[in-house]
Amino acid sequence: MSSATLDARYWDQRYAEGNSPWDIGAPSTPLATFLEGLADKDLRILLPGAGRAYEAEYAHRLGFTQVFPMDLTGAPFEDLLNRCPEFPKEHLLVGDFFAHDAEYDIVLEQTFFCALDPSLRSTYVEQMHRVLKPAGQLVGVLFDSVPNPVGPPFGGSEEEYRSLFTPLFPGVSFARCYNSIPPRAGRELWLKATKPTPYAPIDCNFYDHFEAAATLKEMVTIQLRDGSELQGSIVDLFVREQIEWMRLSDGTEVRLDEVRDLHRPQHG
Ligand SMILES: C[S@@+](CC[C@H](N)C(=O)[O-])C[C@H]1O[C@@H](n2cnc3c(N)ncnc32)[C@H](O)[C@@H]1O
Repeated sequence: MSSATLDARYWDQRYAEGNSPWDIGAPSTPLATFLEGLADKDLRILLPGAGRAYEAEYAHRLGFTQVFPMDLTGAPFEDLLNRCPEFPKEHLLVGDFFAHDAEYDIVLEQTFFCALDPSLRSTYVEQMHRVLKPAGQLVGVLFDSVPNPVGPPFGGSEEEYRSLFTPLFPGVSFARCYNSIPPRAGRELWLKATKPTPYAPIDCNFYDHFEAAATLKEMVTIQLRDGSELQGSIVDLFVREQIEWMRLSDGTEVRLDEVRDLHRPQHG
């Protein structure tokens, strides 16, 4: 464990000394790509531990209107305002993420989790769950690296992250990033954790299609309510904690009420 107390004074001093090796001087490509794919420019987006907030600037320049960078210290926001004087100052949140009380559609993670004392990891997951609206998403990058007891950064593995997130975000996924910046290539996982909504049982006729596709081992295309699309064959339909799920051939599990449309191959 780091011997330093990772409070506002600690981070303030790091910025004052220019000791910020995490700062890549530009929006992280996985987050930039994610933002480019969002159509609704009025989504409320929080960036906790935003630092110099390149991703917030990028989102603002893309036309997002509700972007809220947050940091324990206001020092790095001076840099943001120098780069982008028109960024709405009333959206700059200086304070402790763990004491923050508001709701967002999206929370973006970028070297915030790994900068926190590891004893806060479960609380981080709980607080993320609290600040997200139902169906809201926490997305971003987590390092896939050996634990580093003298962080920050503290490191961690997919296995550890999965067991931390699954209780509150059962569908959480970690995919190796394909678009990391070169110095981080192969070391970043794309985190996607959606806050579950109360389950809305699906129509029987719709369910029959899932069952038929599973029985016939068809390759199907599944359109989800969040706009994303999945392909594969359904290998299992099951109920967990009174929620209906399907499992695809690649192991992905999807709640049935998250499915907007199921496309099956035409027969005959
Ligand atoms: C490693 S830096 C990452 C900054 C930025 N995300 C980046 O990638 O350049 C971690 C940031 O988290 C901030 N931070 C640490 N603990 C925090 C907390 N409890 N609430 C809000 N911000 C915090 C620090 O001040 C620091 O700016």
